[in-house]
Amino acid sequence: MHFEVLRTQARTGESWAALADRHLPEPGPALAVDLSGDPLVFRTDPSQRLSVRPMTAGDLADVTRWTNEPHVAQWWDENRSADQVAAYYGPALAGEDPTRLWIWEVNGRSVGFGQDYRISDHPEYALLSSKPDAVGIDYAIGEPAFAGRGLGTSLIWVFLRDIVWPAYAGVTEFFAAPDHRNAASLRLLDKLGFTRGLWFDEPGSDGKVDTVIGCSLDVAQVMGLNLSTAEVTEE
Ligand SMILES: CC(C)(COP(=O)(O)OP(=O)(O)OC[C@H]1O[C@@H](n2cnc3c(N)ncnc32)[C@H](O)[C@@H]1OP(=O)(O)O)[C@@H](O)C(=O)NCCC(=O)NCCS
Repeated sequence: MHFEVLRTQARTGESWAALADRHLPEPGPALAVDLSGDPLVFRTDPSQRLSVRPMTAGDLADVTRWTNEPHVAQWWDENRSADQVAAYYGPALAGEDPTRLWIWEVNGRSVGFGQDYRISDHPEYALLSSKPDAVGIDYAIGEPAFAGRGLGTSLIWVFLRDIVWPAYAGVTEFFAAPDHRNAASLRLLDKLGFTRGLWFDEPGSDGKVDTVIGCSLDVAQVMGLNLSTAEVTEE
């Protein structure tokens, strides 16, 4: 069920997520549909169970297949053989790299994957993006049948709200930087409430350079600041 709220309906200091929770038309999480305009559009869907779980080595076969699906491969120019995928994600799966890796599920079926990290943990990227204090995310809906149906927006909303937000106390900005030609990803970020910022060049494989657009989410505005100092587990 879709529902709308006006930005002006937010109480002083109230985030859009909290505003949506206050106007839920039925039980269930409020999922972002389109937060790029006013009214803000959300939805509920009791028939859909969207969840995010930690990636394991057992997921690498799916991840390899997904990165080779044409709609993903178009934007994924390296690390696509099974060995490359295992070598690329191995350190994070082994806990040697602080990047956290995740699998998206729809009603228990794995449909895509993503990651989150403190940009300051990657100094070269921090220099490129000029966002050392932000938390970065990357994502893909690997199963073609599940892409282009609004699910990416919902899943990444759940990911940001339930997984990323609780893990980084005090963070004020989430950040993603799609290729400037990746219209689906840029639109998805618009719909989640991100704003587009600086363009910058990111070195890719084989000396290639990708021109990307830095997009930022104002965490306080959209989700509210997480002032907790508690350690949060990845479960
Ligand atoms: C990017 C991605 C996660 C989006 O997931 P999704 O489930 O397709 O996203 P949604 O359906 O929620 O939203 C996509 C939006 O982009 C729009 N869109 C899709 N292709 C488009 C195109 N070629 N031009 C313009 N808009 C486009 C859709 O119409 C939709 O907007 P709308 O709801 O206003 O109509 C998915 O396409 C994907 O995994 N792509 C490959 C990997 C990738 O690019 N990852 C991001 C790297 S930064």
